Amino acid sequence: MSKFVIEFGKQGTPAATPDGRLDAPAFHRNVEPIWDAIGSFLTEAQGNVLELGSGTGQHVVTYAARTPNLTWWPSDVYESHMTSIAAWRALAGCANVQPPQRIDLTAADWTWTPGGKLIAILCFNVLHISPWRVAENLMAGAGRFLDANGRLFLYGPFKRDGRHTAPSNEAFDHSLRAQNPEWGIRDLGDVNALARDAGLAPTDIIDMPANNLVLAFARADRHT
Ligand SMILES: C[S@@+](CC[C@H](N)C(=O)[O-])C[C@H]1O[C@@H](n2cnc3c(N)ncnc32)[C@H](O)[C@@H]1O
Repeated sequence: MSKFVIEFGKQGTPAATPDGRLDAPAFHRNVEPIWDAIGSFLTEAQGNVLELGSGTGQHVVTYAARTPNLTWWPSDVYESHMTSIAAWRALAGCANVQPPQRIDLTAADWTWTPGGKLIAILCFNVLHISPWRVAENLMAGAGRFLDANGRLFLYGPFKRDGRHTAPSNEAFDHSLRAQNPEWGIRDLGDVNALARDAGLAPTDIIDMPANNLVLAFARADRHT
């Protein structure tokens, strides 16, 4: 088990319901703003969507209910999160959400089951609470699995031109690095360089509430 992860239900956050469902306060703040940024793509797309670092599973079941055109594949590294995802899935009864699978982005050769091309890959609030190689491996994997017309969507806090976009993000970055020197808010330029190496190109940068961003990437050969 990677020691670089934040596990919900620890550090004073609320415990799970008896069936293992966890509730992330950030989900309630982020679910609609993120949907506003990526929902139009998802409602028009067809195919498989993989979420990496699904956490509680609340985003997957909410967005899956709005997109019967897609099949959703949630994933995480923690057993407690997999249990939560499975419990939210059961409660929602969404036919288009598959059982959670364990995917650890610290592994360079990560894959997904059953495998093949993905019309979208989502990864929210993961890159700043994990070592840089998670970003490297995420991008490389997106390069392997993203469909010709697919999108990779990242959400979270990012620096721009090496600078924090708000004092609150700078303070957050300090607290992250104090918890783990390998964590920290990533710079957009560094993330874009990884994307380029993986054959991807940025298509959108969308300002989000509380100084967060949604970053969208597509295959460079289709969008340059
Ligand atoms: C801050 S939570 C965000 C959860 C969810 N995406 C959301 O936005 O509510 C970070 C998530 O990243 C996952 N994570 C951390 N390191 C990971 C890794 N190496 N591979 C895959 N997931 C990881 C954690 O288990 C956790 O669920």
